[in-house]
Amino acid sequence: MARILSLTLNPALDLTVSLDTLQPGAVNRSQGLSSHAAGKGLNVAQVLADLGHKVTVSGFLGAANAAPFEALFARRGFVDAFVRVPGETRSNIKLAERSGRITDLNGPGPQTQASHHTELLERLQQIAAGHDAIVVAGSLPQGVSSEWFVALLRRLKALGLPLALDSSGSALRAGLAVAPWLIKPNAEELAEACDLPDAARATVEQAALSLRAQGVEHVLLSRGAEGVSWFGPGIALQAQPPSVAVVSTVGAGDSLLAATVHGLLSGWPAEHTLRLATAIAAQAVTQLGFGIHDREQLARLEAGVVVTPLI
Ligand SMILES: Nc1ncnc2c1ncn2[C@@H]1O[C@H](COP(=O)(O)OP(=O)(O)OP(=O)(O)O)[C@@H](O)[C@H]1O
Ligand SMILES: [Mg+2]
Repeated sequence: MARILSLTLNPALDLTVSLDTLQPGAVNRSQGLSSHAAGKGLNVAQVLADLGHKVTVSGFLGAANAAPFEALFARRGFVDAFVRVPGETRSNIKLAERSGRITDLNGPGPQTQASHHTELLERLQQIAAGHDAIVVAGSLPQGVSSEWFVALLRRLKALGLPLALDSSGSALRAGLAVAPWLIKPNAEELAEACDLPDAARATVEQAALSLRAQGVEHVLLSRGAEGVSWFGPGIALQAQPPSVAVVSTVGAGDSLLAATVHGLLSGWPAEHTLRLATAIAAQAVTQLGFGIHDREQLARLEAGVVVTPLI
């Protein structure tokens, strides 16, 4: 068991509204509403907890609607190191129609101020030493600049702990300059962050190798149903998941990241790590949520993953 610090700077309350057919501009009746505390770093934290690790969660949390998050932390035994900021954590509303179509309405989230940024840095500085690795996942909230994000990542890297980053857009672009220990972009995210001409497999794999040369130890390049390419020290592997019935891809990338960190911290051979991580990600796709709830299904999925050398 390791102790892992997972940062979610911009968590979200996911509100899923089920309805028959959305009629824009009219009064719609919903058949149900479900809400749950979400955010990439919190998803990673939950899979890490399923794998037996002790997790501290941190980032910025709106004080006005913190209750569902605090309930999740209590349920999962997470140590709560979130800095509270005035206002509400953003709500991401998903209008789910019977046809399967989903319309997303993503909220803006609270405005973070310089005093909150300082408070978070101080808190992380105080608590980080008790951990074996740090994961930073997700987008940046209002008020956080790319420059501050880079300063945060540099501070965390200077602690000497393995630092894993999963973000996109300008946050990923900025984060690459810090050369984290591990990154987990999907092909499109890497293409955007590195200004690649396209997201074709050969193009993104070449960019992954360049990032390795720039000091990123592990590049875990996810390619949706096509699987994963993993470049690391002495590691050049690809994994093809078994074909599964897709229920919801929410948390697939987060599961892949969490399980890879788990294998690396456990000192497992890379093939074993990648096989399990690909199976846990495939399992996430087969359920509405994510996480390891059915160990037998996971064993079957693991047996169906094909891991092969890349070069
Ligand atoms: N349809 C699928 N069938 C099997 N495995 C899948 C499927 N979609 C995704 N996966 C697994 O999940 C991993 C991560 O998926 P993807 O590349 O879509 O990540 P992502 O875009 O970062 O996702 P997320 O929305 O969680 O951030 C893939 O590398 C693959 O192993
Ligand atoms: Mg992702």
